[in-house]
Amino acid sequence: MANMALLATWFPDHKAKGPSMRTAPTFFRNLEEALDLRRAERSVFLVGAIRTEFLNELARNPGFELGAGGSRLLNGNNAYTEAAEAEIAEFHGGESALLFHSGFEANTAIMAAIPRPGDAIVYDELIHASMHEGMQASKAPCKKSFKHNDVDSFRETLLEVLETQSLIKQGKRCVLICLESMYSRDGDVAPLRELIAVAKELFPEGNAQFLVDEAHTTGVLGRQGRGFVNELGLEDEVAIRMHTYGKALATTGAVVVSNQTIREVLINHARCFIYSTAPSFPMVAAIRAGYKLLMTGQTQALQDSLQRLVKHFFETITANPVYDEANDAGILSTPPRRRLGVSPVSHAGHTRDDASTLAGLSVFPIDYPVVPKGKGRVRVVLHAGNTTNEVEKLAATICEWAQEMLDIEESGKGGAKIPSAARQV
Ligand SMILES: Cc1ncc(COP(=O)(O)O)c(C=O)c1O
Repeated sequence: MANMALLATWFPDHKAKGPSMRTAPTFFRNLEEALDLRRAERSVFLVGAIRTEFLNELARNPGFELGAGGSRLLNGNNAYTEAAEAEIAEFHGGESALLFHSGFEANTAIMAAIPRPGDAIVYDELIHASMHEGMQASKAPCKKSFKHNDVDSFRETLLEVLETQSLIKQGKRCVLICLESMYSRDGDVAPLRELIAVAKELFPEGNAQFLVDEAHTTGVLGRQGRGFVNELGLEDEVAIRMHTYGKALATTGAVVVSNQTIREVLINHARCFIYSTAPSFPMVAAIRAGYKLLMTGQTQALQDSLQRLVKHFFETITANPVYDEANDAGILSTPPRRRLGVSPVSHAGHTRDDASTLAGLSVFPIDYPVVPKGKGRVRVVLHAGNTTNEVEKLAATICEWAQEMLDIEESGKGGAKIPSAARQV
């Protein structure tokens, strides 16, 4: 632990300095460029920093209990968890926060408990399985999906709800609109500002409200990792935000950030909250440790570096001479350009064929049933510890593969040539 603290003082900031030293003497510029490589690698220390913060948190609370002892409605609640929730709510600019064991649980709780009889749920067709799970238990009789990230389809769906549900039209019943801020399968972000504008126009009484799942944006987008809604400054327009901790925050659990009304409905109606043992001290301590790093700004440089890497990846792959042809042939595509420029956890190299093993680089095939048949793809998840070289190698490797696929198609629709991966096998 002492070693970690020492390292942190050695590397007070890890922004690349080389690019700003063009006019400096080569002697020092070269040294700074060598240091930049280390600065890029410094994230390795930050991952360890979460562990260090966690151990510090345990040390600050030496009498902690391992188990919560029961549901929060019985003896499982305590001042430590309540304090953590107050801290989290303040950080995210919400009135209140409620912790759950996982994002899956939080989503099912919201979907099952918040819509009341007579309400409607309108959702993006690509929302996470956990929201579907909760929807099945929901009391809302009307459930309608709209086309993924499609503002026109969203408008049509809301109009259909207004037409068919007279109590909703009269403003007596409500609509819960469910989205993810960033979709892990396609690597694109929701057009949230536009969706909110449409909902406000069609529901001036405010009886349509948003749930935004920030699983893939927590810790990576927004000021100090506050998420996508924060990035757009839309905290006051989104009634419910769900942040998970199993991804960027490197632990487990999730939180629902909302006003007090939503929190109380969840406490009183969400069965997985009522009938389950409360989060344990170690779990809450790990979450707090992650937030400490976010709150003290220690993760901001990593976040910025990740954004630079993702941008560089897209620029490199789309600038490759093979990209346009492979894209036209439907062999290779990247997520659509977003207003924010880059999405934090990126998916690229959507492929028609299986290309999961790329020159020893770790990428993951996503196939049916996670995505529809014929829409298999390679999931690329960059992290702040990746180097520019690795990103360039990845882009080049994907393009080499795409070129090979084009060659095969050209030489008689796959008859003559065998892919190099197949040859190796
Ligand atoms: C968009 C989204 N929501 C919710 C979840 C569930 O979160 P957890 O892993 O904490 O249960 C995931 C996890 O993969 C996710 O990707």
